[in-house]
Amino acid sequence: MKTGTWYVCGFVVAFIYFYVYAVNYVRGEPALSGYNPGVPPWPTSGQEPRAQSRIQQAIHPKLSWQYHNYTSMTTFLRHVSTIYSNLTALYSIGQSVQGRELWVMVVSRSPYEHMIGKPNVKYVANMHGNEAVGRELMLHFILDLVQNYETDYYVRWLLDNTRIHIMPSMNPDGFEVASEGTCQGGQGRYNSRGFDLNRNFPDYFKQNNKRSQPETEAVKEWIGKIQFVLSGNIHGGAMVASYPFDNTPNSIFSSVVSAPSLTPDDDVFKHLAATYSLNHGRMYLGEPCKVGAPKFENGTTNGAAWYPLTGAMQDYNYIWHGCMEITLELSCCKYPPAAELTKFWEDNRISLLQFVGEAHKGVKGFVKDDSGISIEGASMKVKGRDVGFQTTKEGEFWRILLPGIYTMEVFAEGFQPREVQFAVIEQNPTLLNITLYGDNTNRVDLQVQPSNIDEEEQPLEEEEEEDQGSTIFGLPNPLTSIQNSMRSILNKIPVFG
Ligand SMILES: *[C@@H]1O[C@H](CO)[C@@H](O)[C@H](O)[C@H]1NC(C)=O
Ligand SMILES: *[C@@H]1O[C@H](CO)[C@@H](O)[C@H](O)[C@H]1NC(C)=O
Ligand SMILES: *[C@@H]1O[C@H](CO)[C@@H](O)[C@H](O)[C@H]1NC(C)=O
Ligand SMILES: *[C@@H]1O[C@H](CO)[C@@H](O)[C@H](O)[C@H]1NC(C)=O
Repeated sequence: MKTGTWYVCGFVVAFIYFYVYAVNYVRGEPALSGYNPGVPPWPTSGQEPRAQSRIQQAIHPKLSWQYHNYTSMTTFLRHVSTIYSNLTALYSIGQSVQGRELWVMVVSRSPYEHMIGKPNVKYVANMHGNEAVGRELMLHFILDLVQNYETDYYVRWLLDNTRIHIMPSMNPDGFEVASEGTCQGGQGRYNSRGFDLNRNFPDYFKQNNKRSQPETEAVKEWIGKIQFVLSGNIHGGAMVASYPFDNTPNSIFSSVVSAPSLTPDDDVFKHLAATYSLNHGRMYLGEPCKVGAPKFENGTTNGAAWYPLTGAMQDYNYIWHGCMEITLELSCCKYPPAAELTKFWEDNRISLLQFVGEAHKGVKGFVKDDSGISIEGASMKVKGRDVGFQTTKEGEFWRILLPGIYTMEVFAEGFQPREVQFAVIEQNPTLLNITLYGDNTNRVDLQVQPSNIDEEEQPLEEEEEEDQGSTIFGLPNPLTSIQNSMRSILNKIPVFG
């Protein structure tokens, strides 16, 4: 060949090389290394192929409409928490019997730090390992929140003002032995020692003799550390939003016919259940899963009216920690085929978002002493609603209430008890800062002043004394009075036979 031809060939080859290089560079692919498409266009020496593909995925976290076992769920959660490190934090509250982590993803503008004055809420799914829909919906919910933060006004407001703690699986061991497509039955429902975790919590009405399981202990410790305002406990096998109480004091009649067992916050619980149900694609229709089963009006029910049970997580949340938890039954089939997951997501997305927002209704504020120092562990109670709650380390409190006029009762060791009246409106939570003054007068003085003992203050005094006699895990129990008043009512009911 002539020298000129060599030049032309060389030029053409060089041109093609640079052209392909440029195209691949723009597309973010490696130049001329077709056998390894995962390599990014920046220096990669020393990187494992696995790390490379992780970086590629990392740019757009995706979640398939499949069920995710423990390994792939863990990978996904780690992944999201790395990519959205400004909006998420992944933590574990402990381990299952078989050593799987009990993951919680907190999604918030402030994932690593509590925002003073702003509420914490939670969702816990899959405590029955074979009730699998909620577990997958939680993964999609996490992704939906972080991906819509920039564009969706409501999501942004929610994450700016709330810390949402999401536990996709409280029973990861059970899930691993459950099987897709199995609608009924108990395979995978229990933890690996055979315990039903939703019968494993301390019970307010009856002695619970079930041995406490590691998964239960982890949750108890968790909700003892963070003051959750609102919670959803996600199940399957029915289609209804069920609210406390799950158990009932009336053991004689409950075996014959299920009667409602209502809390003093029944109006609020009904509202919370309805918020979920009415925003749902079809829960509000109240259609029973089985032919002949009762219809649920508005897709809601009281737990005990449906069927009473001992050791439920929702009663424990409410009684022990003042957290309003309801139980959300999201699918008639406990573990439906993955092909149905998109439909479940469409039915539940708005409900999941709206329910969380209810944490911003009612009253909130701080309890301080007269020099402005926060009072931790002050016992609070809305008058007429004898289930109490306590202030946090920063003296904060929150209570969901419907619009109306209320009186807050506050008492703390070493301070004079106080009652403060306030109003709640529909749109915004009422801000209520309460100052407590040192208890310089002793109790005898209070009692000899008749003007101090009116009908309203009398119960307060009684309760304080009872508090000291009764403790839960070493903490004063502000709820003894409701128990005692229930007992006294029950004692008055004649028992025949
Ligand atoms: C978990 O799921 C992944 C992806 O589907 C699969 O590769 C893996 O074998 C599964 N692990 C177990 C223990 O089943
Ligand atoms: C995270 O927040 C910091 C500080 O607000 C900001 O500089 C950074 O760009 C954010 N990162 C992402 C990935 O959004
Ligand atoms: C169902 O909803 C309607 C309309 O909101 C309400 O009037 C009714 O009391 C609700 N029933 C129950 C049982 O919650
Ligand atoms: C209540 O106290 C908090 C914390 O000290 C303060 O930030 C807030 O402005 C107070 N609100 C009112 C209405 O006084």
